[in-house]
This record gives sequence, C-alpha cells and structure tokens, in this order.
Amino acid sequence: MIEAGEMDRLDHLLPGWVDTSRQESIHGRVATYIPELSKAGRDLLGIHIINGEGRISEAGNTDHRFTLQSISKVFTLILALMDHGEAAVFSKVGKEPTGDNFNSMMKLELIQPAIPFNPLINAGAIVISSLIKGNTVEEKSARILQFFRKLAANDKLGYDEDVYRSERETGHLNRSMGYFLLDKGILEGEVEEVLEVYFRHCSIQVNTADLARMALVMAFNGQDPLSKEQLIPKRYVQIAKTFMITCGMYNGSGEFAICAGMPAKSGVSGGILTFVPGRLGIGVVGPSLNAKGNSIAGVHLLERLSKAFEWSIF
Ligand code: DON
Repeated sequence: MIEAGEMDRLDHLLPGWVDTSRQESIHGRVATYIPELSKAGRDLLGIHIINGEGRISEAGNTDHRFTLQSISKVFTLILALMDHGEAAVFSKVGKEPTGDNFNSMMKLELIQPAIPFNPLINAGAIVISSLIKGNTVEEKSARILQFFRKLAANDKLGYDEDVYRSERETGHLNRSMGYFLLDKGILEGEVEEVLEVYFRHCSIQVNTADLARMALVMAFNGQDPLSKEQLIPKRYVQIAKTFMITCGMYNGSGEFAICAGMPAKSGVSGGILTFVPGRLGIGVVGPSLNAKGNSIAGVHLLERLSKAFEWSIF
C-alpha cells in the first residue's frame, strides 16, 4: 500500500510538473479526423490520481470533459469476455500487436482467416462491439454504459452527442472495415448496428476523475477497493492489462513500457487511463497528440512521475 507521504509528495509536485509538461503540447496536434474533436484546447493538461483508500491528488485541467474514444475498448473487451468467455472472444480477434496505425486494415487482407490482430485496434474493437449481448442496439449500448457507470462509480456518465454524430457522419474507414469483416464472416449481424454500438461507446463523456476511478478497479484486480465489490473477474483484468502493456499506446507501447512501465490505454481525445497495480488509479487528459496518437504532454508527465515514484512494473 502506498504511504500517505507519497500522496502528500504528489500534492506538492503535481501543479508544477503539470505546468512543465503542458509546454510539450506545442509539439503535438489535436485530432481533427473526427471534426468535433478538433475543438478541444491544445494546451489543456490534467491529472487525477486516487489510491485504494480514496485519497486523491490532482492538478491541472481536471474539469475538462472529453470522450473515452479508444479507452472504451479495454472495457468493451472485458464485457465481451464476461458475456462469452475467452474461447469465443479469441476465435474472432487475435492477441498480437500490429505495428500499424490503429485504423489500418492493411494486414487484414493478408491473413487467413481475416481475424483482427487484437481487440484494441479499430477492426478488433468493432468485432468486440458485435459480441456485446443484447437484443437491440439500444440494449447493447445501455449495457455498456451501465457497466462503465459502475466502474467509474458515476451514475451520471453519458454521451457527448456532438462527438457521436461527428464520428458517425465521418467514420467511413470504420464502416469499410465493418463491411470487410462481414464479407470474411468474422463479423455477424447488421454492420450499421454494430458501428452504432461502437461509435456510442467511443463517445461516452468522462473527466480525469472518472478515468482514475475506472483505472482503480483495474489496479485492484477487478475489485473496487472502496465499495469492495468485485466488478470484473480477475482473469479478465489480467487479459486486459496485458493488452494495455503490449498495444494500449499503439505504436508507442514499447517506448511507454520502457519509460513508464505502467499498463495504459490512450484515446484520440487525449485521455490516458493507467494504473499502478495494487496501489493507484490514474486518469490524464491532454488533447495535443504525438505522432503515435497519444497525448504528448500526458506521456511526458506520466514518464516523469513513474521514474520519480518508481511506478514501473518491470
Ligand atoms: O474509431 C475511431 O477512430 C475512434 N472512435 C477511436 C480511435 C482512438 O481513440 C484511437 N486511439 N488513440
């Protein structure tokens, strides 16, 4: 368990360190391919850290609200595993990093069967969306939202409707992936309905406190340490945690593992959910992205903190 002294030290250091890391934002770019995301302020940076006793340390733009985007993929994977088990899920999606961009379908054409490499790239996450149980799109989306609300301990979690509409109107590449996967027999059902579920969970709106609370459950092997409720079976946290290390920061995953050594998942809106196993849940947001699509200031801050506080699991 982390000593109180360390949280006190964080209280003391975070404001200055956030200001220093914020300066990195100038070297990155806010995502524009989903037009609505381009409205986010480039220089925002916020971090919220919570430990197993509920002690919080935070600094910067923690009031900024943003959409989960790819961070949601960790938890839809977990829900699909809870719905169907490992064998069924991994007959439709692989377990390996790609080395390609998150929205690439290049390798899909080269492999037989055309199973997406992992559940965190778009093709894999779209297949995972097709596996969520429910009779209608609304039912599936409601189950996902309910699960996320429970993990974040926040009943008010909802959608950013503008981002949802923006992505649905411009998500042509995701749409083409869906139809390709339908053609190959990997994806079943109506492609438009599956995409609806996918766009919906990407547009769930959070702040850094929500991210940190979700991360805390992961840090404690699926148990919310504050309510003591087991929300995720330990085995599925183990699986998701491994994907976070190997593919959570896309093509920046190796470097982040070496420099920070924490399981993490990023999203194009600039969010990063990460944790120190058995100790801390951490939520970060900084909309300016590096070339790999991860928050440039967020990565800078986390690497610095991890080194100073020896958070690396390696
Ligand atoms: O499908 C998309 O492109 C977005 N909804 C999610 C992409 C994303 O967050 C990639 N991560 N860095």
